[in-house]
Amino acid sequence: MATTTARRHTGSTQSTGNGRRSPNGRPSPEPHYATLGVEVQKFGDMRGLPIGLDEKVRLESAEVLNEILADSTILYALYKKHHWNVAGPTFYQLHLLFDKHAEEQGELIDLIAERVQSLGGIAVGDPRHAAELTTIERAPDGAEDVPALITRLLRAHETIIGKIREAIETTEKSKDWGSNDLLMGDVLRRHELQVWFLAEHLVESALVQD
Ligand SMILES: [Fe+2]
Repeated sequence: MATTTARRHTGSTQSTGNGRRSPNGRPSPEPHYATLGVEVQKFGDMRGLPIGLDEKVRLESAEVLNEILADSTILYALYKKHHWNVAGPTFYQLHLLFDKHAEEQGELIDLIAERVQSLGGIAVGDPRHAAELTTIERAPDGAEDVPALITRLLRAHETIIGKIREAIETTEKSKDWGSNDLLMGDVLRRHELQVWFLAEHLVESALVQD
C-alpha cells in the first residue's frame, strides 16, 4: 500500500510543496502533475446530458454500443495484423485492402465511441478493456495462410454484424434514433461492404480461359 500511495503522489506537488507558488512566493514554473486513478465517472455510470432520452434508454444504448466498440477495436487490430502478415501472389492487393478496411474501422470506432460519450456514458478505450469484453476469437500470435486470414476476418465481421442488427432493434424500440441512425447508416453498411470485398477473394476463378 505504501508503495502505491508513494507512486500516486510522485511529482504532484513535491517541487513546490503545496501548490502554485514556490517557497519564495513567486509563481512556480513546475508542472502540476495529477494524482492518477481517481475516477470522476466510473465505467457503466451515466452523466445526465439533456438529449431528451431517459437515463435507462441511454444506459441500454451505451452498453450495446460498447460491446460493438470493443469488438471493433479487436477487428481493427486484426486487420493491421493481417496487413503485416499477408503473403503470396496476392500480397500487394490484400496488404492495401486490409489497411483500407482497418482505417475505415478506425473511423467507425471513433463514431461509436463518441456516440457513447454523447449518451453520457464512458466509451471503451483501452485495448485491454476491449479484450476483456470482446467475443471475437483470438487469432494465433503467428501467421496463418491467406484463406485463413480472410476467413477469420469474415467470422469477426459476422459476429459484429449480429450484434449490430440486435442493437438496431434495441435502439428502434427505445426510440434512440441517433444511435439507430449511426448503426444502420454508417456501421452496418460499412461492415456489409467490407464483407463483400473480403469474400470475393475466396472465390475460385481462373485468370484466363482454359
Ligand atoms: Fe502499413
